[in-house]
Amino acid sequence: MSKVTFFSGEQTPLEMHKVRIVQKLNLRPVRERVSAMTEAGFNTFLLRNEDVFLDMLTDSGTNAMSDKQQAAMMVADDSYAGSATFYRLEARLREMFGMDVYFPVHQGRAAESILAQTLITRPGMVVPMNYHFTTAKAHITRVGGVVEELVRPEGLEVTSDLPFKGDMDIDALRACIEKHGAENIAFLRIEAGTNLIGGQPVSLKNFKEACGLAHEYGILTVMDASLLQDNLYFIKMREEACKDMSIREITLEIANQFDCIYFSSRKLGFARGGGMCFRDGALAETMKAQVPLFEGFLTYGGMSVREMEAMAVGLDESMAFDVISQAPQFIAYMCAELQKNGVPVVTPPGGLGCHLNAREFLPHLDDHVYPAGALAAAAFIAGGVRGMERGTLSEQREPDGTEPIAQMELLRLALPRRVFTLSQVRYAIDRVTWLYQNRHLVGGLRWIEEPEVLRFFFGRLAPIGDWPDKLAEQFEKDFGDSL
Ligand code: F0G
Repeated sequence: MSKVTFFSGEQTPLEMHKVRIVQKLNLRPVRERVSAMTEAGFNTFLLRNEDVFLDMLTDSGTNAMSDKQQAAMMVADDSYAGSATFYRLEARLREMFGMDVYFPVHQGRAAESILAQTLITRPGMVVPMNYHFTTAKAHITRVGGVVEELVRPEGLEVTSDLPFKGDMDIDALRACIEKHGAENIAFLRIEAGTNLIGGQPVSLKNFKEACGLAHEYGILTVMDASLLQDNLYFIKMREEACKDMSIREITLEIANQFDCIYFSSRKLGFARGGGMCFRDGALAETMKAQVPLFEGFLTYGGMSVREMEAMAVGLDESMAFDVISQAPQFIAYMCAELQKNGVPVVTPPGGLGCHLNAREFLPHLDDHVYPAGALAAAAFIAGGVRGMERGTLSEQREPDGTEPIAQMELLRLALPRRVFTLSQVRYAIDRVTWLYQNRHLVGGLRWIEEPEVLRFFFGRLAPIGDWPDKLAEQFEKDFGDSL
């Protein structure tokens, strides 16, 4: 955001947009929140949005569109093949990433599936990465690939003042390549704005070093750019060498390191869809047939052309510093206020959302009763705030059935871009603080239905004991007739 100093001296993030379309919200009484959570099997994915007050589940497909995006949707060119919309979007992406080929896909994970199926040509091939994302890992392991996470060790420390916790450990990458042999590495994957460790950025310097090393060995480099816009903000703000570069220049410089860039435009571009960009036509050619097979024809890839039109405008807006500053500034505000109240959060604040450290929040809970899942349920009961568990529940079991314990046990309270007002953020801070004061009341969860694949999406759990009722009782004592 533009620098605006308050006369009072207060540090308040200031929106550089105004709200012109609104959606009514419901805040149910606390007992109804307990019932809704029970019906949802203590899984926030299974709540009905009409029972949710602040939907902080994700920033995926929930970012607010601008007036210009909405207007562009009206001029979308509805045709199966060769639509003008496709060519407009392709031109935007060429300009942004300097890559010739663009394949539209219906969302980010479709790109992950295509990459995994094409590049993992035999079981056991390794994909080194800074850190996994759930769907990326699921697609890689589904075809027999092996994920190696090589984020620098400090990236996994919950509290830190390291500016780029998403950076790869370059020595570890070299050791990984030497150990397996370059021919057994399918590709290097670097995730911008590393999601599961708290939306933590990668520095331009590290992008260059990691990709430079991979290229020395002839290994393909792939960026997951779904959370690139937050990463761009952090590079501009935190990387001394980049402070005078424009967002476009930084974007191009990052893109120059990669052979392929894929993204979910449910995040990048304020729309709903996805894409894959390639520097080399021959590489693109190896994946081309999968687009019409699984997505849709090459000029729409399963997306509505209206969304594509909105995406083209949204991508352009993502190159504006004022636009990409909004979410990180709100997140920093939320983290700072929670920290003042003693609530353990991931630091430094990253992109995507404010991440609560569930292990420290609920130290009396063992990892096998899912502290982050329990905290997600408790936050909904406390305030109608829906977050997302990002911990052990989000892991997949090993083939022998053992349950890996997540390195981080987090509750993510996402701040979809341009959606919430500061007073709503302050409300969430208030309710989380109350919950922290009453944390001893929160108990664990156990499975009642555990799916084999991506269990966190639709598995059902139950509380161990009657803690949700006890929590509601305390809420009524403390808040009286307040919702
Ligand atoms: N990569 C990253 C870094 C993501 O955060 C996501 C989605 C994907 C890939 C997959 O994209 O949903 O369009 O298929 N993240 C969402 C989230 C689901 O809530 O963090 P998709």
